[in-house]
Amino acid sequence: MTDLTIKPRRFSASSPLQGRIAIPGDKSISHRALILSALAVGTSRVTGLLEGHDVLATATAMRAMGAGIERLESGEWVIDGVGVGGLLQPREALDMGNSGTSTRLLMGLVASHPITATFIGDASLSGRPMGRVIDPLSQMGADITASPGANGTKTLPLMIRGLAPAIPLSYRLPMASAQVKSAVLLAGLNTPGITEVIEPVPTRDHSERMLQGFGAELSVETEADGTRHIRLRGEAELKPQIIAVPGDPSSAAFFIVAALLIPGSDVTIANVGLNPTRAGLVEVLQSMGGDIELLDARTVGGEPVADLRVRHSMLEGIAVDPALAPSMIDEFPILFVAAALAEGRTVTTGLDELRVKESDRLSVMAAGLQAIGARVEESADGLVIEGTGGDPLTGGATIGGHLDHRICMSFAVAGLVSTAPVEIDDMAPVATSFPNFEPLLEGLQR
Ligand code: S3P
Repeated sequence: MTDLTIKPRRFSASSPLQGRIAIPGDKSISHRALILSALAVGTSRVTGLLEGHDVLATATAMRAMGAGIERLESGEWVIDGVGVGGLLQPREALDMGNSGTSTRLLMGLVASHPITATFIGDASLSGRPMGRVIDPLSQMGADITASPGANGTKTLPLMIRGLAPAIPLSYRLPMASAQVKSAVLLAGLNTPGITEVIEPVPTRDHSERMLQGFGAELSVETEADGTRHIRLRGEAELKPQIIAVPGDPSSAAFFIVAALLIPGSDVTIANVGLNPTRAGLVEVLQSMGGDIELLDARTVGGEPVADLRVRHSMLEGIAVDPALAPSMIDEFPILFVAAALAEGRTVTTGLDELRVKESDRLSVMAAGLQAIGARVEESADGLVIEGTGGDPLTGGATIGGHLDHRICMSFAVAGLVSTAPVEIDDMAPVATSFPNFEPLLEGLQR
């Protein structure tokens, strides 16, 4: 799974971006489409699946546990499910590559099946905290042996021995994490009775939507203060589905910001998922003065979708409401690039979670932006950025991608608005979520 070819790339001041593009399928929805199809009784079909390394790691693991997963020449994926409770013992370690989502969601699945699985991953993934899923899954009865990480964390490689029947749990999320929520719900699928997740801060709700779509008995009750109670009845029988995966707003984000920043740009991005639990960046950029028009709003695969027309705009710095963070958690690296060219100061807070993504995205973005001439201060839980007021950055530095696709793409966009080129030491990680990022960009440069 891990591609060992290093791909250094140089990004230089760009001509206006013009034209129309379609971005690849949503990563979060693609993982869930494969997983739930693999647990249904019968054959599901998925179009628009993201064919990035992260999603392919999920596909390979689900095959190793018995599901039939095939890609037709048309690009459609056909999945023969094993039924909830029907997962088989994998013969080898499950290689999760760079993918935290694959790891945490599949740990949830294994936790309530009578199988034992070993999870391994690349250097970035092997440094990320897994205690957040180990805690609830252990309470459900799984036996998990993890490796010790930095500062007392528990990390990959780890081995998990599932328990069937598992013990139903009511679990209050200690951090805003859709991965932890989904791990508990997926474990709950093969657990007798009701499994409940209590979510004080709403996070992406693709698991809930798709579980309901597959026919699981799942209810969501929201308290007056916004706390959500998600209850799932276990030992569910999932019915096969036909799923169209919408385009990934987290991938669209790089082209939205590039079009806003490069003078003369006018780009339409087709079929962008705009689930409210994901659409925070569009809201923030619009309130900074970004000209982003939503066209042809519609529903695809149970998710709100629109085409976005984005034109170059002068942005103004703002204080980003930390309550919006979960709805744009993966978009902060590229927002920081937008802020670096805005007029005035942008202040972000409440972003501790960024320190445990594919890299420590606060420190890596702060150091990289400083290296190319931006004025940035790093705090414990955010960045404060003084924008140039539309002037290009200095550029002229090599940036380490830290095996983090979103760091690579953010600095690629920064290079497009820098006087001297920005070199990225290795763009290979981009293939985890956005394999055709570079050709799409070249196609818009006229
Ligand atoms: C994801 C949830 C988020 C996000 C990740 C994908 C998911 O992680 O950063 O890219 O598909 O559930 P957390 O749940 O850790 O916030």
